Amino acid sequence: MARRGSLLAVAAALLVAVVAAAVPPTCERIECPAYEVVDSANGFEIRRYTDAMWITTAPIEDISFVAATRTGFLQLFNYIQGKNLYNETIEMTAPVLTQVSPSDGPFCASSFTVSFYVPAKNQADPPPAEGLRVDRWAGARYAAVRRFGGFVADADVGEQAAQLDASLQGTRWAAAVNDARRADPASPYTVAQYNSPFEFSGRVNEIWMLFDDAAAAATSM
Ligand SMILES: *[C@@H]1O[C@H](CO)[C@@H](O)[C@H](O)[C@H]1NC(C)=O
Repeated sequence: MARRGSLLAVAAALLVAVVAAAVPPTCERIECPAYEVVDSANGFEIRRYTDAMWITTAPIEDISFVAATRTGFLQLFNYIQGKNLYNETIEMTAPVLTQVSPSDGPFCASSFTVSFYVPAKNQADPPPAEGLRVDRWAGARYAAVRRFGGFVADADVGEQAAQLDASLQGTRWAAAVNDARRADPASPYTVAQYNSPFEFSGRVNEIWMLFDDAAAAATSM
């Protein structure tokens, strides 16, 4: 009996791991950057992205994550609709990333950059556009990821980031994430959103804490 119980516990744990590792449903319909799941545990997933390419806005100063993301998304939406040097329309992809650089003071605006994943088809020659830059992740980039649902509100972002941070403490990934944050204190986390504003159910969002190959290599596997 005890043996059957422990087998069930193992099966349940595997099921949880599989559910946690499933790609966001949006990525079954539109192109997303490919990744490999390196680890997955209570409340987080570690992913390895290879050579992902993004088109990114200039920093947007705002007191609101939601407002800044809307501003940036509009620029990127115009870009894929053909407002670029090649007048080229580009397929929609996911996720849209908002990199958050919180301010220190309570009344200061934070800084945000918003990014769109460049489809594989366009990566050899992404159309340039005024005010946007191409951002290529040369080699492997790792992300510690926490997923959450619903429409992202300003209050969620710091809260979800804190929960991801808490879930990583005591794991072999904590040092890599902390080192990356120390190296670039201005950009502690990124929010990934997978759904258009018109999708009301099954929304998928993620907090990402990014670190590089060297930090991951230092983490004995
Ligand atoms: C893009 O469109 C503008 C305005 O219609 C035109 O002046 C320009 O020559 C076009 N550029 C290309 C590369 O087609």
